[in-house]
Amino acid sequence: MMQPSNEPDSAVICGIGAALPPAIVSNTQLSAHLDTSDEWIRSRTGIAQRHIADIGSGTADLAVQAAEKVTGCAPVQALVLATTTPDRCCPAIATTVASRLGLGGVPAFDLAAGCTGFLYALATAAGFIAARVAEAVLVIGVDRLSTLPAPSDRRTVPLFGDGAGAMVLRRGQAWEDGALGPMVLGSDGTHADLIEAARPGTLRMQGADVFRHATARMSAASTQAVAAAGWRMEDIDRLVPHQANARITSFVARQLALPTDRQLHNIDTVGNTGAASLPLLLAQADGDGRLKAGHRLVLTAFGAGLTWGATTLTWPDLTC
Ligand code: UT7
Repeated sequence: MMQPSNEPDSAVICGIGAALPPAIVSNTQLSAHLDTSDEWIRSRTGIAQRHIADIGSGTADLAVQAAEKVTGCAPVQALVLATTTPDRCCPAIATTVASRLGLGGVPAFDLAAGCTGFLYALATAAGFIAARVAEAVLVIGVDRLSTLPAPSDRRTVPLFGDGAGAMVLRRGQAWEDGALGPMVLGSDGTHADLIEAARPGTLRMQGADVFRHATARMSAASTQAVAAAGWRMEDIDRLVPHQANARITSFVARQLALPTDRQLHNIDTVGNTGAASLPLLLAQADGDGRLKAGHRLVLTAFGAGLTWGATTLTWPDLTC
């Protein structure tokens, strides 16, 4: 018989997957109909290309494609889906995604916290596990941010791409690799106007102010999360920052005194994919060996709201 443990339950990562739409749009292709250039976009943002979903495919389609790669990892009993670009206002797209995945009546809902959505969703999923709502939770971060800017706005169109990432969290113990560390989350609605869209095609962003808040918030949240985990910043093997702009993430790494080779990035090939950014980066880095079992990570994000967050974990050996 299993002995009762004094350790509280933790949420442990047991699978990760991602999906990108096949169509790629390069900076040069963009500059054919926008007053911009490959040189401007690369030097100011680090972006060389982005993936764009076709008009006929929705946010739910991308979510399903990413989730299908991980639903076999554990019997999933809840779905938390983070997005700022659902296919409709009501109902949540999570219920459709859960049905399409054959999850059989599990609780499912959307969560909107801008580009920090995936961290908010991880914290929510960990809460579901702690509250015994579920033994395993599917967490999806998905966005089609390419739909938000006005097509003629050169200040925002080049920044955004479409994508999805999915992760399964299961009940486990805090000492296990893959256990989520303490979660730092925050918001400041007094700056809601810095990134704002009433509907697709109406995005307004005050880029320089966003840049300033993003660097300050991600650096502070990372520092707090690492301290809350009882780690030192020099123990961190990989900084996993939301891919907003390569200059923002390099600035954060410098503030945290983490060398370039400890920073994961993929903004050059995917741009800013919103709530999908962190799981997409983790899935790609796990797949290509930049991320190895035993690496100590700090994940951090920032987005519209304003919202921000950070957490830590030791990367597990994912066989699923
Ligand atoms: O998850 C959070 C989402 N948002 C972000 O992460 C955005 C954060 N901010 C940024 O990444 C940067 O502020 C931007 C990349 C958006 C802009 O870079 P910047 O170095 O702050 O440029 P700027 O806004 O100060 O603009 C400098 C100049 C302006 O021209 P004038 O007014 O000085 O003549 C812009 O009109 O660059 C111009 N510009 C462009 N030129 C060519 C802005 N966008 C472009 C463009 N191509 N795509």
